[in-house]
Amino acid sequence: MKIAVLPGDGIGTEIVAEAVKVLQVLDLPLEMEQAPVGGAAYELHGHPLPDSTLNLAKAADAILFGAVGDWKYDKLDRPLRPEQAILGLRKHLGLFANFRPAICYEQLVGASSLKPELVAGLDILIIRELTGDIYFGQPRGRRTAVDGLFPGADEAFDTMRYSRPEIERIAHVAFQAARQRGRKVTSVDKANVLETFQFWKDVVTEVHAQYPDVELQHMYVDNAAMQLVKSPKSFDVVVTGNMFGDILSDEASMLTGSIGMLPSASLNDRKQGLYEPSHGSAPDIAGKGIANPLATILSAAMMLRFSLQAPEAADRIESAVKSVLAAGYRTPDIWSEGTQKVGTREMGDAVVAAITGKTIKS
Ligand code: IPM
Ligand code: MN
Repeated sequence: MKIAVLPGDGIGTEIVAEAVKVLQVLDLPLEMEQAPVGGAAYELHGHPLPDSTLNLAKAADAILFGAVGDWKYDKLDRPLRPEQAILGLRKHLGLFANFRPAICYEQLVGASSLKPELVAGLDILIIRELTGDIYFGQPRGRRTAVDGLFPGADEAFDTMRYSRPEIERIAHVAFQAARQRGRKVTSVDKANVLETFQFWKDVVTEVHAQYPDVELQHMYVDNAAMQLVKSPKSFDVVVTGNMFGDILSDEASMLTGSIGMLPSASLNDRKQGLYEPSHGSAPDIAGKGIANPLATILSAAMMLRFSLQAPEAADRIESAVKSVLAAGYRTPDIWSEGTQKVGTREMGDAVVAAITGKTIKS
């Protein structure tokens, strides 16, 4: 099983190192090869997604990705910015289905910004369409306005668009995922204003006819943003477009205590996948050894389950994470009174110890 390991920028290198460490103690035939991506690749090769990195990713069964981006690249032309690496990988590999589970672990109920009773037992799955919408729609650019409120003024524009097959395939993914869980799908749209999302709603409704055993609810995105903090446990599977999914998944992450806990999987129709934490490169804390590696470690578990057919190994990682939390280990982002503050490496070591069966001191 070939894994392309792309640590990227900022805390990316630190957290990916911990996930690799965890994968290495599992006794699986994993072949891991590392390559630069994002700002790190720009420094080395003058491009955030060099061909060598893209080809490694294409040839792999799965990709373990850290994070990309740093403020220092904000002035570069857009095609050279670090973010283009992850967008390019999604596009080139056709990774249209993004799974972002938001699970509130029992031990972290107090770390959530919401009242404990709202988040205790929370287990929702956001399924974000990842290769369409306003993120990739053409045309886009800058021009001089010929109409609108200020003709003759400079303006910028992007295009929000979805085709029927794009919506159909993500709807199938959502309904099938719901069958493995609570059998409820909330499709999030803005059909009251946007043609793209009226179409989205219509197509999701049509696909739903094939899944009579799954409940379908439609919700406007503004209301969904509110319901996520008002009664998050009323959701099971949430399916939505690229941009709404980007925003709502960050919101959902805070319910779990920290965005440092949120793994993600991005799959194509061949079940080849890219696995990355839902958070970014956090340049403000990079190099300090305090980033939470658990989102990346949990992403590695998703990788074993979805792309590498090793569900037992995935279970081992997930139970190890639960046991280190139970033992009181906390990186600063999830720390609370009475628990033990640890750094990135110690947290990785604790997970390794839990997997290999050594006792963990609490
Ligand atoms: C994410 C990130 C990316 C996105 C950025 C880095 C391009 O925010 O994976 O959620 O907007 O999709
Ligand atoms: Mn995001």
